[in-house]
Amino acid sequence: MFAEVVESAGFGQIIPPMFEDLGVFLRLGEATDIVTKEMYDFEDKGGRRVALRPEMTAGVVRAFVQHRPLLPWKAWYAGPNFRYEKAQQGRYRQFDQVGVEVLGVDDPHLDAEVISLAWDFYGRLGLRQVRLVVNSLGEPQDRSRYVDALRVYFSQDLAALSPESRQTLERNPLRVLDSKREQDAPLVAAAPVISDFYSADAAEHFARVLAGLDHLAIPYEVRPSLVRGLDYYRKTTFEFIGAALESSQNAVGGGGRYDGLVEDLGGPSTPGIGFALGVDRTLLECDAEGVFGAPANPVSVFVVDVTGGAEALTLTHDLRAAGIASDRAYEGRSMKSQMKAADRSGATFAIIIGGDELASGAVTVRPLAGQVGDDRTQSTIPRTELIPMLKRVLPS
Ligand code: HAM
Repeated sequence: MFAEVVESAGFGQIIPPMFEDLGVFLRLGEATDIVTKEMYDFEDKGGRRVALRPEMTAGVVRAFVQHRPLLPWKAWYAGPNFRYEKAQQGRYRQFDQVGVEVLGVDDPHLDAEVISLAWDFYGRLGLRQVRLVVNSLGEPQDRSRYVDALRVYFSQDLAALSPESRQTLERNPLRVLDSKREQDAPLVAAAPVISDFYSADAAEHFARVLAGLDHLAIPYEVRPSLVRGLDYYRKTTFEFIGAALESSQNAVGGGGRYDGLVEDLGGPSTPGIGFALGVDRTLLECDAEGVFGAPANPVSVFVVDVTGGAEALTLTHDLRAAGIASDRAYEGRSMKSQMKAADRSGATFAIIIGGDELASGAVTVRPLAGQVGDDRTQSTIPRTELIPMLKRVLPS
């Protein structure tokens, strides 16, 4: 579905490599946790420093610099990423993302269009509780004046900051704004806001992005503390917040502009923007919002053989050959345990073979709970009649 949404907007697929030269990822910013603490980097047999990708933007931009496709270049991707994180629900060391990148366009309409692709995708999945938060980090010089102001502001009241935020302040004052610690909340709430540092161009660009979102009737909240975890962002940043997970990992997706990254990776000055959506967190959100409903029946019948298992082997084979999806239990389990497995399988019928059935060439057909109304009357029929009977009663 993601491919459908983005391909209808002119994006082509790119498959970036799973690992790259470490230097490619160092451009994500040496003040970011993703680079300093979370990268799986190692030396290969040729003595090169390489790293598993912690995200895909850097690899896509590296490929752009190397191959110089025509501008504007619109690429989408899907695949796993690796970050050495403290694993918990919604935060994994290997996780999947789908995302897009567009290179070569500075137009704020594109920012609105890119955001709308993610928004439409969530909508098409049936998610209704995902919220969009947006911000602008201004031009690089706005951002660096803001960082200086934050450093001064937080340094004036160091004792009021949590020890963790004091450490963050040394490395990256912007990230202190991300603190979810209660102790930091009053100071963070009263901190200087980035919008006071925008140049006229940056303010104008952001206003036009918001106007674009208004035109598309996409609801958003402007959150001045949204700084994101990667250093390459300039101007527009955004995040999609789900309702299912704790606040420290409730972002189901995020992105923004990175107008300096192509140059950082050795290419010509080229604007860029994109997003990545966390597949794992999006699925958790889907579960929480109940958008997928009950799973489709994977099989139609479940064979319960309490005579040793050889009958189940041949019967499932015959059923499948006749086009009837079937499954069974293994290892000679008890009748009770096999019936539990039958119930879990979602099958319409359990086909039971006990000693009596085996001796008389019959099978017992038992409707399973929730499949055929409340009528759970079972019947024993000759085995030769089983397949024709199932073909009559099962939906084709
Ligand atoms: P990110 O915010 O680091 O941005 O990751 C995007 C999304 O990936 C997050 O919102 C989250 O849903 C998911 N994610 C991140 N880390 C984990 C994890 N450890 N476990 C599970 N899910 C996770 C980027 O990666 C940027 N490359 C996005 C971008 C593209 N910006 C511009 N273009």
